Amino acid sequence: MTDLSGAPKLDTLLDRTIVPGYTRLGIVLRRRNRPADPEPGALRGATAMVTGANSGIGKAIAEALAGLDASVILAVRDRIRGERARQDILTTHPDADLTVTECDIADLASVTECTEGLRERLPKLDVLIHNAGVLPPERAETADGHELTLATHVLGPLLLTDRLAALLNAAGDPRVIFMSSGGMYTQLLAVDDPEYRKGRYRGATAYARTKRMQVAFTPILAEYYGPQGISFHSMHPGWVDTPGVAAALPGFHRLIGPLLRTPAEGADTAVWLAAATPTPPSGRFWHDRRPRPEHYLRRTHYTNGELWRLWLDCRQAARIDTG
Ligand SMILES: NC(=O)c1ccc[n+]([C@@H]2O[C@H](COP(=O)([O-])OP(=O)(O)OC[C@H]3O[C@@H](n4cnc5c(N)ncnc54)[C@H](OP(=O)(O)O)[C@@H]3O)[C@@H](O)[C@H]2O)c1
Repeated sequence: MTDLSGAPKLDTLLDRTIVPGYTRLGIVLRRRNRPADPEPGALRGATAMVTGANSGIGKAIAEALAGLDASVILAVRDRIRGERARQDILTTHPDADLTVTECDIADLASVTECTEGLRERLPKLDVLIHNAGVLPPERAETADGHELTLATHVLGPLLLTDRLAALLNAAGDPRVIFMSSGGMYTQLLAVDDPEYRKGRYRGATAYARTKRMQVAFTPILAEYYGPQGISFHSMHPGWVDTPGVAAALPGFHRLIGPLLRTPAEGADTAVWLAAATPTPPSGRFWHDRRPRPEHYLRRTHYTNGELWRLWLDCRQAARIDTG
């Protein structure tokens, strides 16, 4: 049985001091006291889908889920990169059941098309991991006219979840996981300007704002789809050495360098949330296998009214049928 309640004092201290906790040190120092690993073969018979599975943390998640015997769908926007990742994972797990599906999560038509294919061929979906992420250098809009980080981190995942809800509902213990970021702690909920049209655009701010939305929406998703038996979790992976970080934050990548976590270490909590027994409680925000506060700063708090307004606006922007 996993004890999720009293996080040891050292664990809490690491969380609050950020720099040691988010690096490899956090993983090493917490290792002895963390909740137990999923059992070998924990996901045998389960199907899991991971967005952005061709690189970095997403690829490491796909590999770890395959290592627990799940059938894994690598949802990618570039089939060739997806096939390359599939071949790489097959070198460590030659018997793994891996399929590549094209899904540009920032493009609502692509999300719809991909879910139509999945609904035709799958009887159920046990795990859905919203991992795809971007930190753009300047403001960009998608084909649907939405700001890129909003579309990638919020609108696409909301639509994907909604269109796969029936498949998730058909699984015994379905779980949906959002790969958020500790950067969200710095940001308010952008209720009045979710598309980041006002003020000077900074990619890191847009990224953190939309990662804040993922965490804020997790309890609502848990409430909305919970009666269908689906549990929702958001998490942050710490600071991880991935192609995305090296490209978007080269200075940070150089500065923290060897202290960055490996992709497998960054994947750990997502894999644990997907496979742990008993099912971790729904609607919470996690890091290193423990629930974490959603706020450290008083100024980032929001009202329920603001949260629901943004939720409804985003569902409408994602063209989710609210009828
Ligand atoms: N690394 C960290 O320290 C860190 C910290 C906190 C949170 N995170 C989060 O962890 C997740 C993975 O990041 P990473 O560091 O592993 O970065 P990464 O190596 O850049 O991986 C990002 C993945 O997302 C995919 N992606 C981006 N836009 C997409 C779209 N529209 N449709 C489908 N796939 C798309 C990318 O595909 P392409 O190869 O086609 O671009 C890539 O596979 C992100 O959500 C990120 O915000 C990372």
